[in-house]
Order: sequence, then C-alpha cells, then structure tokens
Amino acid sequence: MKSEPKWLTHFFLCETNRKSLVALRKLKRTQPFHDRKGRKIYRKIEIKPGDFNITIAEILTTKCITQKKPTFCLLDQRMFECNWETVKKLAAYKKQPNNKIELLYFLGVGWLHRSMSGIKHPEKMDRWWGRQDWRKLKGMTHGDIAELVRKRFEDELGYRFAAAYPIYEREEGNRVMYYMIHASDHEEAPTLMVRAHHKAVRSLPKEIQEPLNFPSE
Ligand SMILES: C[S@@+](CC[C@H](N)C(=O)[O-])C[C@H]1O[C@@H](n2cnc3c(N)ncnc32)[C@H](O)[C@@H]1O
Repeated sequence: MKSEPKWLTHFFLCETNRKSLVALRKLKRTQPFHDRKGRKIYRKIEIKPGDFNITIAEILTTKCITQKKPTFCLLDQRMFECNWETVKKLAAYKKQPNNKIELLYFLGVGWLHRSMSGIKHPEKMDRWWGRQDWRKLKGMTHGDIAELVRKRFEDELGYRFAAAYPIYEREEGNRVMYYMIHASDHEEAPTLMVRAHHKAVRSLPKEIQEPLNFPSE
C-alpha cells in the first residue's frame, strides 16, 4: 500500500484474527489522501473478516475484479493456511487472452519439516497441498520443495512464469525461512521481480540470492 506510484486502486485485505483486523482497520483509517506529488489518491480498501479460503469465493463472484484489470494476490500465509483449491480458484479466474491473477505465494520452508512431524490434522495438510502425497516432502530439501511447488504453478495452474525467491532470516546467517513463489503470465514480470527482490533482500553472495528458474535478462 505504501508503494509509489500509487497505481493499485482497489485492495481486499483478508484476515481471521480479531486483533489483526483491528490493526487493518487502523491501517485503512490512516491512509493518506494525497500522494507525494500532492495528487488525490483514488483508492478503495475493503477489509474482509474471516477465512480467506471462503471469502475468496465472494470476492471473485462479485465480479468487481474485471477480466482486464491487472490483479495481484499476496498469499501471506505462515505455514499451511492457504488451501490449494483457493490457489486454483485464483489461477482460473481470468480467462484467455487475459493474464491470470498474479500470485505471490509464501512457502514457509523454515519450519516445514518440524511442523509436518507434529501433524495432528492430516486433512488440513491435504487441503493445503491439494492432495495426500504431501508426506513425500518430509524427505526433501528446502530447495527441492521450493522447486516442486514452483513447477506446480506452471504445470498444474498454467502460469507462463513461476519463480521461487528465497527470503532469509533477518538476524541469523543465510538461513532461508520462506520462499516467495511468484507466478505470472506477464512477460516482464520475472525481470521486474528479480530487481525488486535484489533490492529487498540483504546483500548476500549472488549464487544464494538467485531465484529458482532465474529468467535470463
Ligand atoms: C504471516 S501473517 C501476515 C500478515 C500480514 N499480511 C502482514 O504482512 O503483516 C499471516 C496472517 O494470516 C492470518 N490468517 C491465517 N489464516 C487465515 C485464513 N484462513 N484467512 C485469513 N487470514 C488468515 C493470520 O491471522 C495472520 O495475521
């Protein structure tokens, strides 16, 4: 929401947690009316309480996201909260020849193995992964899991480009905590994302920062 220029005009902020909803409402209230150059900002910010796996259907059926409107969806999950069915709905919403909704999907690899070993509700994992073979992830490295998920965005969801960007733990060394999977149909999106990512992450050796499926510039 802070990014300039303020091209994005319509936001849906989805949240289950009551305290976080209070914070989101404050965020909405305190948004500036004018941009840095003094121009009026025309924006609509909608807060949607409840489970995003459910509210997404309502957001998509109201048709306020038109087929031609460039659309981005940040799936900022901690671990296993976003169901694969939800990702599929987002990917299927825009029809050819329009570009699909661009996705930014957080894959929390840092705690993945530990979280999987204590699973009490395997059906939750089934919903997250979209099928029951998530158990095979237990024997895989973080990098291999990220590559597998990245490929699912291309092969199963039909995105033209998908890249996995490592996100490091702030304080400690080179530990990758998340991968951000960026899926897009837009030709220039991978290059733009690589630039944004290089600016955002700490300065680390080049070979560590490069995303999986690095597009050749
Ligand atoms: C990693 S945090 C990110 C929060 C926010 N995007 C930010 O940058 O501060 C994940 C958030 O998702 C919320 N959450 C978890 N499951 C959810 C669900 N099914 N639907 C909507 N929000 C959910 C949690 O309450 C938590 O606030």
